[in-house]
Amino acid sequence: MQLFDIDKVISEFAQKKITVELERELTSGKEAKVYVARFSTPKEKDRIAALKIYKDYNLRSFKKQQDYTAGRHIGSRTIRAAVKKKNQVGRQYIQNVWVSTEFKLLNQAYQHGCNVPEPYFATKNAVMMEYVGEARNEAFLLKDSELTTKQYETVFNIIFENMIAFFDLNFVHGDLSAFNILCWNDNLFIIDFPQAVSTRSDPNAKDLLLRDFDNIQKYFENKIDVDFNEYKRELYKLTAFI
Ligand SMILES: Nc1ncnc2c1ncn2[C@@H]1O[C@H](COP(=O)(O)OP(=O)(O)O)[C@@H](O)[C@H]1O
Ligand SMILES: [Mg+2]
Repeated sequence: MQLFDIDKVISEFAQKKITVELERELTSGKEAKVYVARFSTPKEKDRIAALKIYKDYNLRSFKKQQDYTAGRHIGSRTIRAAVKKKNQVGRQYIQNVWVSTEFKLLNQAYQHGCNVPEPYFATKNAVMMEYVGEARNEAFLLKDSELTTKQYETVFNIIFENMIAFFDLNFVHGDLSAFNILCWNDNLFIIDFPQAVSTRSDPNAKDLLLRDFDNIQKYFENKIDVDFNEYKRELYKLTAFI
């Protein structure tokens, strides 16, 4: 069994009449690999994309499984039990939720005008989206950026606006940090949504929102001069209703 079943992903895209060619690997993380890819559909030829392929669910550790499933309402009792046991059915279920959450929330956020890459397509195990960067010139992560104080202030405010927008869309990112924000040509792109949770059904949503803010605050603390508590108060007001 392969850790990343790339051939399967490519054949699943082919079934949707999307031809995919991998150009190069961008990163290989704990849960996913990201490639620069080219794709063609019957309507569009040779477009560039970022292809995020998730690790085969049988080989993922699912150590943080509690976090992934907490508050997510599982209608079927059989599936609930399977998830608890972490058996084949349960793992597959979590994987489906994981990948479909990333695609669904990227779509909602993109439609809403948030700073996220445009999602293109998804299969059971992969999400294809707008590639941030140019063929040979990569975007960089916010954590590696060197901006002026004024630029950092703007960036902080954009991130905060996005947190509020996500909240309006009834979700919390849940892993927001300078590691999951890409900078490119004066634009920001927030990425990496599979762990996001619903503010409607997840009892951890409030804590996660505040944790996200703390991560962002830590990053900006020695870069900009703003009253972080004022922003935090705004978040408290928002969460008073959940
Ligand atoms: N749309 C994208 N355009 C360009 N690079 C991307 C894109 N999505 C992800 N990447 C690159 O892949 C890395 C991992 O993606 P991410 O979604 O954060 O997955 P994970 O952190 O779970 O491995 C990012 O840090 C970034 O370098
Ligand atoms: Mg990430």
